[in-house]
Amino acid sequence: MNELKNPVIDAILKRRSIRAYSGKPVDKSTIKELLIAGMYAPSARNQQPWHFIIIDERQLLDRIRAIHPYASMLKAAEFAILVCGDEDLELSKGYWSVDCAASTQNILLAAHALGLGAVWLGVYPRKERQKEIREIFDFPSHIHPFSLISVGYPAESKSVPDRFKEDRIRWNKW
Ligand SMILES: Cc1cc2nc3c(=O)[nH]c(=O)nc-3n(C[C@H](O)[C@H](O)[C@H](O)COP(=O)(O)O)c2cc1C
Repeated sequence: MNELKNPVIDAILKRRSIRAYSGKPVDKSTIKELLIAGMYAPSARNQQPWHFIIIDERQLLDRIRAIHPYASMLKAAEFAILVCGDEDLELSKGYWSVDCAASTQNILLAAHALGLGAVWLGVYPRKERQKEIREIFDFPSHIHPFSLISVGYPAESKSVPDRFKEDRIRWNKW
């Protein structure tokens, strides 16, 4: 799959989880673009129940790497974004995690569009990971860590896998 006609579809299909980074610094205006993309995600009743913590202190990234079983790429990441849900901002109870997932995906797509590499690290709904991260950041009880996004300029490239499955599609009935 090389050149597609539409840039949004192109980004959706070509975005991959990138876990190797070049060490090139990412400037603050680029980080802000990622966060803007995260804040433009759809959310239930437009409640926007999210907060974002930018983690660029090496010591903090190392602490997270020590408690998360699949976060070794943080060693070379320029920074990570911790996407958090705020129960107190919910208008539709129970939707904060769904909203945070949409925001996380927006950030991943924006990272790809800006030439960055990024990967989603699962936190919610794993109780142990939530507890450890909650302790590191000393969160109040209404704030829930949802995902970590590891970011840097890519030092690997990946081809587009074939994922389209005709047999997963039904029309009008199961
Ligand atoms: C909810 C969720 C949790 C994930 N957790 C991790 C993780 O902890 N570590 C990791 O390296 N990748 C993680 N990933 C990335 C997936 O492994 C990746 O999206 C999947 O293999 C598909 O590859 P692609 O992103 O390149 O399309 C996670 C993805 C999602 C959506």
